[in-house]
Amino acid sequence: SAVELGPYQHYMQKEIFEQPRAIADTLEGVVNIMPELFGDKAFSVFQQIDSVLILACGTSYYAGLTAKYWLESVAKIPANVEIASEYRYRDSVPNPNTLVVTITQSGETADTLAAVKHARSLGMLHTLTICNAATSAMVRECALAYITRAGVEVGVASTKAFTTQLVGLFLLTLAIAQSKNRLSEEQEQAHLKALRHLPAALQSVLALEPHIVAWAEAFARKENALFLGRGMHYPIALEGALKLKEITYIHAEAYAAGELKHGPLALVTEEMPVVTIAPNDTLIEKLKSNMQEVRARGGQLYVFADADSHISPSEGVHVIRLPENYGLLSPILHVVPLQLLAYHTALARGTDVDKPRNLAKSVTVE
Ligand code: G6P
Repeated sequence: SAVELGPYQHYMQKEIFEQPRAIADTLEGVVNIMPELFGDKAFSVFQQIDSVLILACGTSYYAGLTAKYWLESVAKIPANVEIASEYRYRDSVPNPNTLVVTITQSGETADTLAAVKHARSLGMLHTLTICNAATSAMVRECALAYITRAGVEVGVASTKAFTTQLVGLFLLTLAIAQSKNRLSEEQEQAHLKALRHLPAALQSVLALEPHIVAWAEAFARKENALFLGRGMHYPIALEGALKLKEITYIHAEAYAAGELKHGPLALVTEEMPVVTIAPNDTLIEKLKSNMQEVRARGGQLYVFADADSHISPSEGVHVIRLPENYGLLSPILHVVPLQLLAYHTALARGTDVDKPRNLAKSVTVE
């Protein structure tokens, strides 16, 4: 209803703008990093495990892909991420010392529930869910849980559920690292401080909306778009492309930028907008040469840089700069302008933003 929507036109827009609050709520009970955030038995489980297997669908799967980078670089634990509908039906080699992690907004996705049951039937008994629905089937199914506090998400295209899942997954990374003595007290405090600053950092990203509205006008006239990212921003490129295709029906693909020359470069012409996620991380110089490859073929670059990326606008290169570089938590900030780009492009095209054709909020049957 109009009352619930307040100043917003759609639930999706409202939910995008609720993200600072959703993240603050998700962090509310977190006084310190500790395994018990995930359940009473979490400490002994985290000590025992030698790897992590993440199972999820859709946007939640991309949260899992992002977490793989954190788990391996911060907790130094091998992590694999699988699409639940693939894992449940393939022959795999079970490892009883793996922590099986499901990620699900609804806690009711049929494939993800079946995947964790399948893992258990193979003898993998350490299960944990990152879930937004405290009384869902998934929470009953898993031994350990972290409940995100995104609140009810109405828009079919997931936004605040995704960013709060990332917060839960970063906390999981820190708790595993701590249980295995791979985190110093100083590092722990620095990560906590960065987490607590996220709501304020997100507010300044949301303030970029007017710039994104201007880009959306150009996107609304396209039928194809390419999204590029590297490292932990590659999953963010995938999520940006998913948002665009879900609600605007523009065909969008995401590539790890280093793969450009192995195929997608063949598609690049003046008609192809190429959205590039370009924070100032260790891969920025490599990303800049990927961007030159696009420009040399006439491709139009739409770059989300940050304060330190040293990328300036020029012919065919459009730049929006995020106010600060956010290190390991940068994916949580960089996904927000991509949500806004999809939203405003959908508005310009006049599609049904909150209820895109053929899609359901929660897929409870196979
Ligand atoms: C549907 C929704 C997506 C969601 C996916 C997984 O496809 O439209 O937004 O990411 O299901 O849902 P879950 O509730 O398991 O996160």
